[in-house]
Amino acid sequence: MGNQAGLNERIRHFYDRSTAIWLDTWGEHMHHGYYGPDGKEEKDHRQAQTDLITEFLQWGHVQNPARILDAGCGVGGSARFLARVLNAEVLGLTLSPVQAERATFFNQQAGLGERVRVEVQDVLQLKVDQGPFDLIWSLESAEHMPEKRRLLQVFYDTLRPGGTLLMATWCHRETPPAIMEKERNLMQKIEHYYHLPPMISLGEYEQMAGETGFQEVKTADWTNSVAPFWPAVVRSAVTWHSLAGLLRAGWPTLRGAWAMQFMMRGYRSGALRFGVLHAKKPNL
Ligand SMILES: C[S@@+](CC[C@H](N)C(=O)[O-])C[C@H]1O[C@@H](n2cnc3c(N)ncnc32)[C@H](O)[C@@H]1O
Repeated sequence: MGNQAGLNERIRHFYDRSTAIWLDTWGEHMHHGYYGPDGKEEKDHRQAQTDLITEFLQWGHVQNPARILDAGCGVGGSARFLARVLNAEVLGLTLSPVQAERATFFNQQAGLGERVRVEVQDVLQLKVDQGPFDLIWSLESAEHMPEKRRLLQVFYDTLRPGGTLLMATWCHRETPPAIMEKERNLMQKIEHYYHLPPMISLGEYEQMAGETGFQEVKTADWTNSVAPFWPAVVRSAVTWHSLAGLLRAGWPTLRGAWAMQFMMRGYRSGALRFGVLHAKKPNL
């Protein structure tokens, strides 16, 4: 518990400090963009980010969820998008009070204050009576959470029977062959700079989801589709305006910016993967 409290505190601090600069240079979506199946489509980053959400919804065959949990919601970019396109009510959870405060402001500004609520809460502490949800959406947040098996159990317990889990997360490549020392060093750098517990493979998530009781578990590797994202972030960071913002944001954000090179190296080498998972809680 002590370790987890320490990890959550570091995550909170990282997002509290880096959210303003991200909002300033990139906007409300704090996740990769989708650049076509082979990553070759050229597009504006905002378009790429909303395309990722649309592709993910299509891939997951999501239909008319009335109540959605956005587990690890940032400033609520996905939460508002989902509320609009699916006409749903959304609860978003983040560890960062700064993000929750910004999200609440944006929800009201968008006229969604009644339907989208963002709170500061650890997803792993979610209570059954906060559900049930028809859809649980976890976009680039599960990699921050230790105890993946417990996370899947929490999702299972708070989904309505027949409800859907959609998770997109950073993973290490499948094994065997075993992860080599060079790969492990690289993954450890990514984990260190972005405050992640040790990553697992997509295959491990898939197996755990099945063991938790989920059905219709399917996964896909979207690494090629999202890999152009980091070079785009680096290009946008190398402007005087962004560099000044980086300096103002302070040490945790500078470290995060420094670590972008490890993300690119991770994708290039194949050690780091971007995985998506779909699973359904059986109808009882
Ligand atoms: C990379 S951001 C992604 C944000 C959002 N899903 C998006 O795509 O814009 C990761 C988010 O996960 C949240 N997070 C990480 N661990 C969490 C936890 N244990 N409970 C709640 N939120 C968590 C962070 O606070 C942050 O908002």
